[in-house]
Amino acid sequence: MLQDNQNLVPPPQRRNLPRYHQPQSKSSGNCCIKCICCCYCCLFFFIFFVTIFAYILYALYKPQVPNYYVKKFEVTSFDVLSDFSINAEFLVTVEAENRNERIGFIYGKDSAASILYRDKTLCAGKLPAFEQPEKNVTMIKVVLKGKREFGPGLLEKLTADIKAGKVPLLVAVKAPITIVIEKWPLRQVLVKLNCSLVVDNLTTDNKIKILSTKYDYQIMF
Ligand SMILES: *[C@@H]1O[C@H](CO)[C@@H](O)[C@H](O)[C@H]1NC(C)=O
Ligand SMILES: *[C@@H]1O[C@H](CO)[C@@H](O)[C@H](O)[C@H]1NC(C)=O
Ligand SMILES: *[C@@H]1O[C@H](CO)[C@@H](O)[C@H](O)[C@H]1NC(C)=O
Repeated sequence: MLQDNQNLVPPPQRRNLPRYHQPQSKSSGNCCIKCICCCYCCLFFFIFFVTIFAYILYALYKPQVPNYYVKKFEVTSFDVLSDFSINAEFLVTVEAENRNERIGFIYGKDSAASILYRDKTLCAGKLPAFEQPEKNVTMIKVVLKGKREFGPGLLEKLTADIKAGKVPLLVAVKAPITIVIEKWPLRQVLVKLNCSLVVDNLTTDNKIKILSTKYDYQIMF
């Protein structure tokens, strides 16, 4: 026991002795280079295998971004108040299409949706939280309501647009979506979807036509 210890830890004067005579030990420099080489090799192989693994996963699961279409735009109420504010409630039906064969999505509850007219928010709401399985089409109904100050200038523009039968609106949605592979929830991404649409009127008679739609989205990892 005592002898072992002596072998492992040389007396201090013996350990320090070579340093006084040789300014830089050659073997310790070599060791350092070897160590760095080894680290780089490990790092290289790590990146190599992660890349291969990611590629195999990608090829196997062929991830596809879901498609969204605004199918229906209904006005439940739309009142211009005497103080130039608007009290409105809309019902927007969005078709969400998941084309993936092995990937599902969980729509989280912390989503936000709003409808803007010329960069001014008309009303707001949120998406229902739900789970969308593979190869599935779900109609998402979004209720948006609110009472917002509009001001006489903007109100005049809106009235003119309604009279012309062309009202440009922006439906902006932010939704946290968890990607599910083979029933395993992987990670959550934030999907921002903007749908610029032009409707022909804002009446409550359930006969609003969507004249055009344009979609932009951004996925934040
Ligand atoms: C799609 O998923 C929703 C929500 O899980 C479900 O209610 C619906 O029945 C599914 N539709 C089809 C066609 O499988
Ligand atoms: C919009 O709806 C109102 C009320 O139903 C109607 O009087 C008006 O003619 C409609 N405007 C257009 C451009 O269709
Ligand atoms: C959506 O529209 C808002 C408001 O105009 C803008 O700030 C945002 O960058 C747009 N997002 C996308 C993904 O186009």
